[in-house]
Amino acid sequence: MGRLDDRIALVTGAGNGIGAAVAHCFASEGAFVYVTDVDGDAAERTAASIREAGGQATAQAVDVSRGQDVSAMFRTVEQGHGRLDVLVNNAGLNVRGDFRHMSDADWVRIREVNLDGVVRVARDGFELLRRSGRGSLINLSSIMASRGLRQLAGYSATKGAVSALTRTLAVEYAPFNIRVNALAPGFIETALTARVLRNPAINKALLDRTPLRRFGSPDEVARAALFFASDDSAFITGAELAVDGGMAAAL
Ligand SMILES: NC(=O)c1ccc[n+]([C@@H]2O[C@H](COP(=O)([O-])OP(=O)(O)OC[C@H]3O[C@@H](n4cnc5c(N)ncnc54)[C@H](O)[C@@H]3O)[C@@H](O)[C@H]2O)c1
Repeated sequence: MGRLDDRIALVTGAGNGIGAAVAHCFASEGAFVYVTDVDGDAAERTAASIREAGGQATAQAVDVSRGQDVSAMFRTVEQGHGRLDVLVNNAGLNVRGDFRHMSDADWVRIREVNLDGVVRVARDGFELLRRSGRGSLINLSSIMASRGLRQLAGYSATKGAVSALTRTLAVEYAPFNIRVNALAPGFIETALTARVLRNPAINKALLDRTPLRRFGSPDEVARAALFFASDDSAFITGAELAVDGGMAAAL
């Protein structure tokens, strides 16, 4: 028996990193997983490896910053299963740089994916989640929603908004028994953080601020997503779970 047997799940940005780990984790617990990513080949690779492992998954190229892509994504689910039990707003990116030099184009790019994409998916996915009768919407926020680090202002601003949106949607979607929660990872080893973590000085500074003295793995974030996806968290909505080795708790 899997903890997500008979559940239908969709993960955005599931071609790599945390999203791919979440897709694998959900499928290994019995869910059928819609794997979507702006990089269609990466999405297909994730779905193929899930199927090779005996799970159920299908892939689709979806850019969450494009309204027509998101509409097509939910049409696919509508035609395939007519409902969604778990929806994970994972797609995200970062453009680092000093705030005072940030171009309009960079800001718009971060916002279009990290915030507008999350808003669009959370809004347009409502009807499919409602039909589940026990829907779970999971948003990827970040420790950066509540902490400051230089060169991450644009990213932090979008993640702060994702955290605020999560709380409001938890209230608004509750009458439909749709739970809405957020994950706030610290530093997880993926392509998103690879460059920063390769810098020895930054690497050490971050480890010094992490009580568990290591970075996290995508699978460790996926385990927390599984908690929010499953009935283990049936009475939890509007929560934000830090998956950060204690970083947010430390001084
Ligand atoms: N890695 C970390 O330390 C960390 C920490 C906190 C929060 N997060 C959040 O977790 C999520 C996943 O991050 P990750 O580390 O796995 O990143 P990643 O770069 O490894 O993977 C992100 C995936 O999203 C896809 N993507 C990018 N833009 C997209 C778009 N417009 N539409 C659809 N897909 C798109 C990419 O193709 C990629 O497959 C992000 O929201 C990120 O902000 C990550």
